[in-house]
Amino acid sequence: MKKYDVTVKVNGVYRTRTVPARLTMVDYLRDECGLTGTHVGCEHGICGACTIQFDGLPIRSCLMFAVQADGHEVKTVEGLAGADGKLSVLQDAFCETHALQCGYCTSGMLMAAQALLDQTLEPTDDQIEEALSANICRCTGFIPIIEAIKLAAENLRAAAGGKVASVEALNV
Ligand code: FES
Ligand code: FES
Repeated sequence: MKKYDVTVKVNGVYRTRTVPARLTMVDYLRDECGLTGTHVGCEHGICGACTIQFDGLPIRSCLMFAVQADGHEVKTVEGLAGADGKLSVLQDAFCETHALQCGYCTSGMLMAAQALLDQTLEPTDDQIEEALSANICRCTGFIPIIEAIKLAAENLRAAAGGKVASVEALNV
């Protein structure tokens, strides 16, 4: 089978791999780059477990081929934490509101939610629901995930003023 050189900027680092044309992006990340935080669920675009950011937008990485990412930039859940391993504000919020149980959906949820927060730090309920509409969680009932996104938005807004909100203060 013919192979192609593919160079992708992944979490800020350029990676070049020689891959078959049929290799999916999620398999490229997991098998070629060793980034197993991106999960494989349905493999046909339904569950959202494989969500990553592609040039800043959330996409389902089971639905694209690695060769299509050549020359582009992606971010995976491994790219959310700081270089020192400190969890991001959004990841902290997921912990605080208990927004995960089995955790299978979590990396996809985080990437979808972070893409929303990259657009606005004052997301409405409708915007949050829309942002999560392509992601399925079978454990939490979604409410703690929505709480986490609101808490993260609040904390990111407050950080500018030096004040960090608690989940109780959100009254959600
Ligand atoms: S594994 Fe990609 S949407 Fe389910
Ligand atoms: S935490 Fe189990 S599927 Fe979401």
